[in-house]
Amino acid sequence: MVKVGIVGGTGYTGVELLRLLAQHPQAEVVVITSRSEAGLPVADLYPNLRGHYDGLAFSVPDVQTLGACDVVFFATPHGVAHSLAGELLDAGTKVIDLSADFRLQDADEWAKWYGQPHGAPELLKEAVYGLPEVNREAISQARLIAVPGCYPTATQLGFLPLLEAGLADNSRLIADCKSGVSGAGRGAAVGSLFCEAGESMKAYAVKGHRHLPEITQGLRRAAGGDVNLTFVPHLTPMIRGIHSTLYATVTDRSVDLQALFEKRYANEPFVDVMPAGSHPETRSVRGANVCRIAVHRPQGGDLVVVLSVIDNLTKGASGQAVQCLNILFGLDERLGLSHAGMLP
Ligand SMILES: NC(=O)c1ccc[n+]([C@@H]2O[C@H](COP(=O)([O-])OP(=O)(O)OC[C@H]3O[C@@H](n4cnc5c(N)ncnc54)[C@H](OP(=O)(O)O)[C@@H]3O)[C@@H](O)[C@H]2O)c1
Repeated sequence: MVKVGIVGGTGYTGVELLRLLAQHPQAEVVVITSRSEAGLPVADLYPNLRGHYDGLAFSVPDVQTLGACDVVFFATPHGVAHSLAGELLDAGTKVIDLSADFRLQDADEWAKWYGQPHGAPELLKEAVYGLPEVNREAISQARLIAVPGCYPTATQLGFLPLLEAGLADNSRLIADCKSGVSGAGRGAAVGSLFCEAGESMKAYAVKGHRHLPEITQGLRRAAGGDVNLTFVPHLTPMIRGIHSTLYATVTDRSVDLQALFEKRYANEPFVDVMPAGSHPETRSVRGANVCRIAVHRPQGGDLVVVLSVIDNLTKGASGQAVQCLNILFGLDERLGLSHAGMLP
């Protein structure tokens, strides 16, 4: 049994970790932290967990207790893992961070986008970007894993086959993305209120979103050179889900894109390339650790449209984090993650 600690157990990614790990046959959550709910049994806050975590209550984060775990997940706002990861690694505990703290390899770039100095630049060299479809081998050897963000997961998986094959005009990539409201976390904020976010849709952060440098970093690696991406996120009135509509101009129209995508993801347990002509729906991946993709070339022109959907809390965060845990501990990658999405 892998002994698991979770820092930030009251948030949406924290409770999603609990939901997934409740069905995991090889992992046991032994510590779960919350500063505001310390002492409260987890099932009192999240009744869906009743019967799964008897005796487990939230506790204040404590390095010694967390350091007795085999692995600690950080499901916390940025900056928290910076301050605790080093001590946990010194104690021999592996760290899987769901925040953005170790996703960008350049500390100055991180400081620019997050408006504060990077709190642990000395750890950046060993941090592994936790996208299994790209970094499976490195994840299996890592001590510190940076789980990708939700928009970056859907967007990178959608663009990767084109960029790796050198088929796209990388100077003009467009990602038009929609997110459900749980993407903003559980903290009270006016923009997340039902009356503000319901029955409406809006773009935000068009001049630059924090996920832009993360996506660009990954796409550059895939393309083996510079890329120019326009990324426009939108808030939509659903609880879970990311829908990325991606546009790229292909340099060679003769390539069978359907075959290219199917081949790229043939051995990936959590990427589903749909039949030609499909339109994946976010509801088909609700609660499932799946990225569902369809590739189109409307009217046979040179513009490719890729549709890529995930659940922001599952393949976009906690499911991907559990997938990384499985790889890290040499377990079957699908453990605890093989259930289908909730439909309707
Ligand atoms: N929501 C998503 O769809 C999503 C997707 C991918 C990645 N992420 C990333 O995952 C992280 C967590 O997101 P979330 O949506 O779950 O956030 P959230 O709902 O706002 O929850 C944050 C959690 O962190 C704890 N926390 C806050 N400040 C802390 C501190 N200084 N020290 C220790 N614990 C602290 C909170 O509990 P207490 O305050 O009670 O301690 C709470 O349990 C964020 O970095 C987010 O960017 C989120």
